Amino acid sequence: MAIEKSRRDFLGLAFGSVAAVGGVLALGAMKATWDPMPSVMAAGFTTVDLSKIKPGEFKTFVWRGKPIFVFRKDHTDFKKCDNRDTKLGEKDFLVVIGLCTHLGCIPDWFPDKKKFICACHGGEYDACAINTFGPPPRPLDIPPYKITGTKMVLGEQGPQNKALIAKNPTNKA
Ligand code: FES
Repeated sequence: MAIEKSRRDFLGLAFGSVAAVGGVLALGAMKATWDPMPSVMAAGFTTVDLSKIKPGEFKTFVWRGKPIFVFRKDHTDFKKCDNRDTKLGEKDFLVVIGLCTHLGCIPDWFPDKKKFICACHGGEYDACAINTFGPPPRPLDIPPYKITGTKMVLGEQGPQNKALIAKNPTNKA
C-alpha cells in the first residue's frame, strides 16, 4: 500500500514538473510571437547627431517612411522662431516633417528665397515652416523627438519637444 502511494506521488510530481516546464516554454514562445521583430522596433526610431550639421546646412532624414527636414539656423541670417525652433545649447534648428499639410507632397527648400515651396499647388512656408501662401492649412508638423547630449531620437518625446508642441496647437504629428 505504501509502495503504491509513493509511486502515485512520484508520478504526480513528474507529470506536474513536465506540465510546469511545458507551460514556461509555451509562455516564452507566445511572448516571442507577440514582441515586435527587431527590425520593426528599429524602424520606429531614427537617431540624428545634431553636432554634425553645420550652420546654414539643410538635411533630410527618414523617420517611419516620412522625410524629416533638419535645418541649422544659428550664425546665419535666417529667421529664428522661439516657438518652433529646437535648441541645442547655442545652436538653433528647425526640425519638421517634410510633408505639405495640404495634401502631403514634399516641399522644396529654396535658400535664396528663404522659403519652402510645394510644387503640387504652390503652397509656401517661411523659414519657421509656417504656411504663408496658398492652400496649406497649417505649418509643417513638428515630429516627436528626444534630445540626449547631441543626439536627437525621432520617435521618442523629450521635455523640449513637448514644450514646443504645446506652443503649436495645430500640430498633428
Ligand atoms: S500638396 Fe502642397 S500645396 Fe497642395
